[in-house]
Amino acid sequence: MEEKKILFSAIQPSGILTIGNYLGALRNFKKLQSDYQSIFSLADLHTLTVKQEPANLRKNTYELTALYLACGIDPNESILFAQSHVSAHTELAWILNTICYPGELSRMTQFKDKSKKHEDNINMGLMDYPVLMAADILLYQTELVPIGADQKQHLELARDLAIRFNNRYGETFKVPEGYIGKNGARVMSLTEPEKKMSKSDANENGFISMNDDKDTIIRKFKRAVTDSDNKIVFDESKPGISNLLTIYSACKDITIEQAEKEFEGKMYGEFKLKVGEAVADIVEPIRLEKERLLANKDYIDEVLKNGAERAERIAYKTVNKVYKKVGLVPRKWN
Ligand code: TYM
Repeated sequence: MEEKKILFSAIQPSGILTIGNYLGALRNFKKLQSDYQSIFSLADLHTLTVKQEPANLRKNTYELTALYLACGIDPNESILFAQSHVSAHTELAWILNTICYPGELSRMTQFKDKSKKHEDNINMGLMDYPVLMAADILLYQTELVPIGADQKQHLELARDLAIRFNNRYGETFKVPEGYIGKNGARVMSLTEPEKKMSKSDANENGFISMNDDKDTIIRKFKRAVTDSDNKIVFDESKPGISNLLTIYSACKDITIEQAEKEFEGKMYGEFKLKVGEAVADIVEPIRLEKERLLANKDYIDEVLKNGAERAERIAYKTVNKVYKKVGLVPRKWN
């Protein structure tokens, strides 16, 4: 049998996920998992680049593991693990640091945005974030990386570092491709549709969390910013309506054009209600299943343990290869 190609992606357990994370990433993980040897990680080390309350980080890590499972990630078929459990990630990040230049990192959009947002804590980790992400990806000889549009720049860096390393030391890494879904790759805030929907938004009405119940979801969509026009069409000058059309079509798995047609001549009020219902239909069963899984922490610990053991076996093959290529003396004991 032909071996499956490797797919890798990760999510930070930095808070309760939004439907942006779901529509831009998680949903595609589920769709793609069987076609690849899929490896999914909880990027817990990445979260430390902004201040975390330790107890919350632990809680969010369990929450996210349960959410992965509730969204249909099969821990037997795929590999699901926490980044901090496999130390190969930080080991490879160190080596990649030695071929990455500060200028490449300081011009990253996310670094600039987060530096503005966390002025009191512009730490080295925040700048080095994309190098650890490159290590995550390259460790597994990954071919496909499903991500939302906001991570595209980071993926480009991972590709550049792979090519640079290969040129300097000989063929070592696969050069990964990104997978950005057609619909839902950039879900915007409901209150400020020029801004990306984010779990760290101070205004709770701006995002739909995967923990919101149906009433909350409908209420937030009723309040969503639209415009003074009355046409339900996708247009750059109508960011609020365009975002709602994106969310609706992604939830229903239809094209934007089909969604526009469905709401032709309809009022904004009715449209917003329908979008809210479509979202609640997806979020509600996932939330209930997640709660059910969370009640059994031992099971979650078991999933993470198995995942880490399987991930480690693959990851250390790459680390050993890299250490050899750069000239480190291999360990003669174990
Ligand atoms: P994170 O945790 O910020 O987000 C997880 C995934 O959700 C996508 N996403 C969105 N998609 C559409 N609309 C939005 N508003 C939206 N917000 C977030 C993100 O693009 C991402 O795919 N650096 C990564 C985590 C990471 C990673 C990796 C990803 C660490 N190592 C290796 C891929 C491969 C991040 O911060 O994602």
